[in-house]
Amino acid sequence: MNIAVIGTGYVGLVTGLCLAQVGHYVTCIDIDTNKIDQLQKGHSPIYEEGLDKLLRENRQQKRIEFTTDYDMGLADKQMILLAVGTPQKNDGSADLGALFSACRAIAEHLSTDVIVVTKSTVPIGTNERIQDYIKQHAVNNNAVSVVSVPEFLRQGSAVQDTFHGDRIVIGGENTEAVETVAEVYQPFNIPIIKTDLRSAEMIKYASNAFLAAKISFINEVANLCERAGANIDDVSRGVGMDKRIGNHFLKAGTGYGGSCFPKDLSAIIAYGRKVEQPLSILECVQRVNEKQMDILAGKVSKRFRGLKGITIAVLGLSFKPNTDDMRNAPSIPLIQKLIENGANINAFDPAATETAKTLLSDKVFYYETIDGALKGADCSIIITDWKEIIDYPIKLFKKHLARPIIFDGRNCFSLKIMKENGMEYYSIGRPAIFPIS
Ligand code: UDX
Repeated sequence: MNIAVIGTGYVGLVTGLCLAQVGHYVTCIDIDTNKIDQLQKGHSPIYEEGLDKLLRENRQQKRIEFTTDYDMGLADKQMILLAVGTPQKNDGSADLGALFSACRAIAEHLSTDVIVVTKSTVPIGTNERIQDYIKQHAVNNNAVSVVSVPEFLRQGSAVQDTFHGDRIVIGGENTEAVETVAEVYQPFNIPIIKTDLRSAEMIKYASNAFLAAKISFINEVANLCERAGANIDDVSRGVGMDKRIGNHFLKAGTGYGGSCFPKDLSAIIAYGRKVEQPLSILECVQRVNEKQMDILAGKVSKRFRGLKGITIAVLGLSFKPNTDDMRNAPSIPLIQKLIENGANINAFDPAATETAKTLLSDKVFYYETIDGALKGADCSIIITDWKEIIDYPIKLFKKHLARPIIFDGRNCFSLKIMKENGMEYYSIGRPAIFPIS
């Protein structure tokens, strides 16, 4: 099938390339000329494992092309995927500006009957609005059917998640269009759930909200473990082995961040308020997450009886490992709090430093190596569990830090190793370790 994808961010580019890989002819459209220039030369603007290979192979096979030109990109396409961003507005709701400009372009370039597939995460009821909007602005009478196919891919494993997802949700009011989309996705060999537009939209929000709830839940249990003298690693394992609960998303830490969970939670909470069905569980999930981001600042402050004048080596800035993405990263409010209270910050991240510089206080000193960040600092805080940090020898922490003290927000190290190395070690939901004097 001839498919156009509007938006070459994570979702659009990965989906476009994966659809090309299973045999479809795909044109990716974006208004960002820089991105399209790069892609036309065979360079991906984002790093995702397996993406470069897909780009190379499908360019060679002439199954993928890139353009900024809607005229050329939308001509003779039977299916158009909407994969533009829906960022969060100040009031928590989703900004649909880019989405509706893309719909306007579709309406103005309509030249054949078309199925519009919404991949972007949109508030409940938006797909119906898209259907009406395109119809209202269409330059002719070609049929338009809107189908919702929400996205469940994670940054860092986006290609893998697209080929090996747990399910593909296809929501629509026009049965024929839903069946056509199901055929397009058939080669992925992933179970397909067919439903209506609103249920598809709700599945996406409910899934992300549930995963975020699992994280806030385990973080609260972790905080309780600290009071109770229990160990959250064992507790998580024991709880997660119950198949009804499942062992994923039960890793305690400094809270969830990223471009999806915080935004989607705010959007569904805003929707609940609007329809007078407040989502009290999710409001708590959000509050617990915000508190969790501060938890290490409190621990450091308690240990040093205040933060004024102490130097802290912060390791890991991105919201999770293997990405330079800093959107809603727990490092942002944490570092802000530390600086507000008078601490000096040395920071290291394997990939996110350049982005961090645009977001964090200019009082932060950045280092290219862990050694550099640690040298002479009073303690270290670990915020992101990058492999580089997990594999860093404990002996070097001891050598470089002025005092051998680590606050670990991701439980990267075993308590036994910390004890053996004579470290003072505070983690999440586990007993603190003190050097034997
Ligand atoms: C998420 C969803 O997983 C994906 O289905 C959706 O399409 C987009 O949002 P992503 O934001 O890429 O994907 O990251 P994910 O790996 O899910 O992690 C989200 C956040 O939760 C990270 O900050 C991570 O550190 C945190 N997390 C995750 C935990 O704190 N504990 C866990 O057990 C799992």
